[in-house]
Amino acid sequence: MRISVIGAGYVGLTTAACLAQIGHDVFCSESDGDKLHKLQNGIMPLFEPHLESVVADGRKSGRLAFGSTEEAIDSGQTIFICVGTPPLPNGDADLSAIEGVARAIAKRASGYRLVIEKSTVPVQTGSQLRKHLAVHNTKGLKYDVASNPEFLREGSAVEDFLHPDRIVVGVESRRAAELLREIYAPIVGQSFACPVHSDCRRLTDPVFLMTDTESAELIKHASNSFLAMKISFINMVANLCEVVGADVTKVAEGMGLDPRIGSAFLKPGIGFGGFCFPKDVQAFIRIAERSGCDFSLLKEVEKINQRRIHEFVEKVRKEVWVVRGKKIAVWGLAFKPNTDDVRFAPSIALVRALLDEGAIVSAYDPQATEKASAVLPNITYCANPYEAAIGADAVLIVTEWEEFRAIDWHRLATVVERQLIIDGRNVFEPTEITRHGFQYISIGRPSRSADGKDAKAEDSLASIEK
Ligand code: UDX
Repeated sequence: MRISVIGAGYVGLTTAACLAQIGHDVFCSESDGDKLHKLQNGIMPLFEPHLESVVADGRKSGRLAFGSTEEAIDSGQTIFICVGTPPLPNGDADLSAIEGVARAIAKRASGYRLVIEKSTVPVQTGSQLRKHLAVHNTKGLKYDVASNPEFLREGSAVEDFLHPDRIVVGVESRRAAELLREIYAPIVGQSFACPVHSDCRRLTDPVFLMTDTESAELIKHASNSFLAMKISFINMVANLCEVVGADVTKVAEGMGLDPRIGSAFLKPGIGFGGFCFPKDVQAFIRIAERSGCDFSLLKEVEKINQRRIHEFVEKVRKEVWVVRGKKIAVWGLAFKPNTDDVRFAPSIALVRALLDEGAIVSAYDPQATEKASAVLPNITYCANPYEAAIGADAVLIVTEWEEFRAIDWHRLATVVERQLIIDGRNVFEPTEITRHGFQYISIGRPSRSADGKDAKAEDSLASIEK
């Protein structure tokens, strides 16, 4: 099918490239001239594993092209809207980009269009879209509006698109339903050349869930908010574990063995970030408040998450004593591994808090330096973790990049001022670190001094388990 995608961000570019990958002819538009120029010349404006090769394949096969919004409106009978819906100061989602696209479609398009909202939008945006298309309809356009929320995780977006657990569509007409079934048929049947897996085992049997538009819009916000709630829950429990000397890793393991709870998203840490969870929780609360519903549960989820930064700075202060003038190394700036995205990343709030206390911060991140330096100009960016750690009074692990697990502790010991690791993502087993002479502070687990003398029950537990 000929499909248009409007917006070439993490969601739009992944959607356009993957739809081309499964056999559709896709035209993708981007309003940012610099990004569009890069895309038209085969340069990626963002980092996402596998996406560069999928985009290149699409361009080479002629199934993926880039251009203006107007060209996109003319090109495909089906138009996916994948523009940003960032949070406004009061927490509402900013829908101005969506409204602008709707108006452009209504004024320009004729014949029939299926307009699909893929951006994460508040419930009832679909009915607003219908109203807006009608108001500005100047060429007798016939149209349907559908909701097709994305469940892509940054760092695994291509895989999540091609091997989803579920495809959710909210439709109000049979024609829209049939078009969406046709678009996603190769994914439902898992019948396409997979760019990620060589043998492409049946990783998932995607469920194609058809609902009304409002329910589809709510599934997205409710799912993200539930996942965020799991994270804040385990972070709340982690704080108690630190006081009573329990190990939150064991607590999460024990909880996760109950299939009704599940082990996913029970990793304690410095909190959730990214362009989805923080804004989706905020938007969901605002939607509920405007509808007169009490979502104070989610307000607590948000408060717990916001407190994580303050609690982590407390850990630093407790160990280094006076933060002012201390050299702090920050390992990891992206909001999670395998992405270069620093939007709403805990690292940004953490570094700002450390700078406010007069710390001298140097940082290393495998991918996010460029994007981080745009928002944090006054810290030192280093080419590797050891350079960041030169003269450091403490090394803080903020993003659990795989490469940090392979640190050369002897080399690190020669460059730091003090052998102290404060781990915001529980990357290591405590004994792994103390064995190398480092003091190790982490989340929700007993702290360990360098000599490992204060062997907790856990060590004896470890010996018992052997
Ligand atoms: C999320 C949802 O997972 C995805 O389904 C939705 O489409 C978009 O939002 P994403 O924001 O890319 O995806 O990342 P995710 O892997 O969900 O992590 C979000 C944040 O939660 C990260 O900051 C991560 O570090 C944190 N996190 C995640 C935890 O702190 N603990 C966990 O156990 C899992």
